[in-house]
Amino acid sequence: MSRCFCRSFILTVSLLKMKLLLKLILVVVGILLTVNSLTLNQAARDHAFTVSPAAGAPPSTEALFKQKCSKCHGADGSGDTSMGRIFNAQDFTDSGWWAKHSNPAELVRAITRGKKNMPAFGKKLTKAQISSLASYVQRFKQ
Ligand code: HEC
Repeated sequence: MSRCFCRSFILTVSLLKMKLLLKLILVVVGILLTVNSLTLNQAARDHAFTVSPAAGAPPSTEALFKQKCSKCHGADGSGDTSMGRIFNAQDFTDSGWWAKHSNPAELVRAITRGKKNMPAFGKKLTKAQISSLASYVQRFKQ
């Protein structure tokens, strides 16, 4: 009689343990899935942000400008953004300014080394990217 009780006791205890273990596994799997989907989302966002239309191709000059320059210079080059107003960013639509600054080497130098509030991009961008950006900004000239 007492042996029988003992066995059923052990059975109950191990069943309880099994249940606990199952719960634990579910919780761990849940955490793993959440973390995984979070990092996947992050990766997807990073991907969308840095990669231009053709996956794997380097970002186009337009994408580079939007990514690195437009917060100050504005997508339209006018410098009419909140950052642009704070830093007094160059208005690339001003033909009067272009009359005095049409030397491409000067633009390349400013982007590479920075100028007053304009940050230097010499370490962040390649020479080719900088020179294509220097010609890109001339499209805003009116
Ligand atoms: C933090 C704001 C900021 C960012 C980001 C920025 N610029 Fe500027 N940029 C300025 C300011 C301010 C000036 C005006 C500098 C001055 O007073 O002469 C300027 C001036 C310039 C000029 C004119 C330089 C000259 O010859 O006088 C060029 C060209 C230029 N920026 C290109 C770029 C490009 C290309 C990028 C992106 C790679 C960029 N800027 C990112 C703030 C910024």
